[in-house]
Formats: sequence, structure tokens, C-alpha cells
Amino acid sequence: MNRQWLFRQHPAAGICYQRCFEQARVPVPDVGPGQFLVANRCFSIEPAMVPWMLSVTDYMVPQLVGAPMLSWATAEVVASRHPDFAKGDRVSGTFGWQDYCLSNGLDINGDIVARVPAGASDEAAMSALWISGLTAFIGLYEVGKPVPGDTVLVSGAAGSVGNLVGQLAKLAGCKVVGIAGSDEKCQWLQQTLGFDASVNYKTQDVPAAIAAHCPDGVDIYWDNVGGDMLNAATGALATGGRVVLCGFISIYEDFSNIPSLHNWLAIAGNRGSMTGFNVTFHKDKYAAATTRLKRLLDEGQLHLAIDALNGFDQLPEALNRIYQGKNIGKQLVHNDLQR
Ligand SMILES: NC(=O)c1ccc[n+]([C@@H]2O[C@H](COP(=O)([O-])OP(=O)(O)OC[C@H]3O[C@@H](n4cnc5c(N)ncnc54)[C@H](OP(=O)(O)O)[C@@H]3O)[C@@H](O)[C@H]2O)c1
Repeated sequence: MNRQWLFRQHPAAGICYQRCFEQARVPVPDVGPGQFLVANRCFSIEPAMVPWMLSVTDYMVPQLVGAPMLSWATAEVVASRHPDFAKGDRVSGTFGWQDYCLSNGLDINGDIVARVPAGASDEAAMSALWISGLTAFIGLYEVGKPVPGDTVLVSGAAGSVGNLVGQLAKLAGCKVVGIAGSDEKCQWLQQTLGFDASVNYKTQDVPAAIAAHCPDGVDIYWDNVGGDMLNAATGALATGGRVVLCGFISIYEDFSNIPSLHNWLAIAGNRGSMTGFNVTFHKDKYAAATTRLKRLLDEGQLHLAIDALNGFDQLPEALNRIYQGKNIGKQLVHNDLQR
């Protein structure tokens, strides 16, 4: 049988995500001519799953009620009648919260099914070598444009994208300051990843801490959260500072109450810029970025930060963990499919 987590109920602020889903068991689909069947191995959990459920993004197909929750995953081809995919091939794509997914070469989102880079683990293939890594790498170099000596401030710094942005900025010769939601995360950023400084936004005065750690201003602010932290960081921009608008988890659960940007005058006065970035509109750069990221991992220059749960039943709980700030590094779920 094919286990599925079906989307049933729209999310709302503060709810437990288990309530949005219902588990079902349906027959494993037959493989027709030109098709192949994949068995999911490792699911990537995204903050954006909440906007996906609300169907407010333009880069994913609408999340239909009664359909498996949209999700990126690594998988193995277990049966094939497709000329380009053979049994045993390792692939990745939008395969949904289910054990098995049928493909004709495209995934549920209509994207071409990707190959897992040779020699990469499922964990690497769903983190540093997938959307998180591609976002960090392409966004940092295309928009942030780091220069050695720059001060780079990152919010959501202990999360999947944030920790990679900080590590890549360190490799680019920058001073890196991370903002995160616990002392444990702040300690990890500095002791394990080599960040220069950190700010616990839940216990510290964020504008004062930014001023203390970034005395010459912020050259690059990488925003993963929006809201108050965007205001605090834009108020501390250096001349010519660049703000990369990557994500806004602080408002994903309530789009009706978006805080205003107070510091636009400081951005203008500092001749700064703010640029929205969405990696899915940079697919032409994925292959080159993956090659660079894989080399950095293989050389031990990038630390792979993974926070994984085990078992298909854990998928909704993994989404809760992201919104409760429990994850350190990339939140994944390993499937426990018995074949
Ligand atoms: N633009 C793109 O192409 C692109 C691609 C991928 C991801 N993203 C975005 O990048 C951001 C980070 O994604 P990720 O996958 O790396 O997630 P993540 O950072 O691994 O996990 C989310 C983290 O956000 C923090 N958080 C949760 N609720 C919050 C709130 N109300 N206010 C402030 N922080 C909160 C928590 O850490 P704390 O303990 O620090 O609170 C949590 O661990 C998200 O906004 C995501 O949508 C954008």
C-alpha cells in the first residue's frame, strides 16, 4: 500500500499542524508506458509549506485539499517503463508526502525530475545540495555580492538556509553575525560554524546588539524572517548596504497583519538596496551551484547541519518543529518504508 498524508484543513496561526493532515492508504499505482515509480526516502520540510497550503506562492502548483501534501524528497526508482530512468536510480523532486509517486519524467510540480548528485547522501541532497544550499549560494553571490571584509548579518541563522549563508559568507572572507532564537543556537553558530558573533532575538535588544556587533554598519543583511528583524537590520545598514529578502517566516501564518517597514529612509540615505530573491527563478544556475557546493562539502569546508526525524508518521510534527524554532540546521524526515 501507498501511505499518504493528505492535506485536509488550512493552517492558522498557532495551530498544531497535525490538524491540517489526515493519513490514508491507497494502492501503489501501476506503472504505464513512459512512466516510472519512485519510493520516497527522505523528505525536506520547509517553512514555505504553510504558504503552499494557503496557495499564495507562484512557483508551486496549488495545494489541493484531499491531495498529498506537496513536498520535496529524495527517492529511488523502484520500477520503470521510461527510457531515461532505470530501477535503482536516485532522484529528487516534488514527490509529496507519500511512500510512492508516479512520474513521466516530471514531478508533481511539473519540474524535471532531478538526479541526486553522485556520492551524495540523502541528507546532503535535501539540504546543502538542494533548495537551501542553492538559495544560500545563488542568493548570496547574485544579490548579496559579498566582498572580503564585509559585515554580513543573517536572521534565522541556525536554520537551514541561514547557517549555509553564514558559512558561505565566512568562506568569502566576511565577518558574520547570526540572529537566532536560543542561546543553544547562538553557541552552536559561533562554536561549531565559526560565526563571529550572535544575537538571541528572544532575550536581547536586537537593535542594540546589532549596533554592538556591527559598529561599521551592515553591508549585507540576509533576511529569513521579515517583520521586526527587517526593521532592526535596515536601520543599521552601512553605506551601499544590500538587503536580501529571502524569507518571511514571521508572517507566513498570518498574511493579514504584515508589519510596516520603518527604515526606508535609512536605506535611501545609505544608498542601499533591498532585493527580493526566489531561487526557483534561477534554475539555470542550479547545476553550476550544485557542483560548487558539492566540492565545498567534499573538501570539508562546509559543515552539513541536519536535524532529522525518523518515520513517515513524523511528517506533520517536523513542520511543527520549524514553526516552534526547534530545528537546528535542515529539518528532514527519513521515511521508514518497508519494501
Ligand atoms: N527565497 C527563496 O528562494 C527561499 C528558499 C528556501 C527558503 N526560503 C525561506 O528562507 C527562510 C528560512 O528557511 P529554512 O528552510 O532555512 O527554515 P529554517 O530556518 O530551517 O527554519 C525556520 C526557523 O525560523 C525561525 N522562526 C520560526 N518562527 C519564527 C518567527 N515567528 N519569527 C522569527 N523566526 C522564526 C526558527 O528559528 P529561531 O529559533 O531562530 O526562531 C526556525 O527554526 C524561510 O523564510 C523560507 O521560507 C526562501
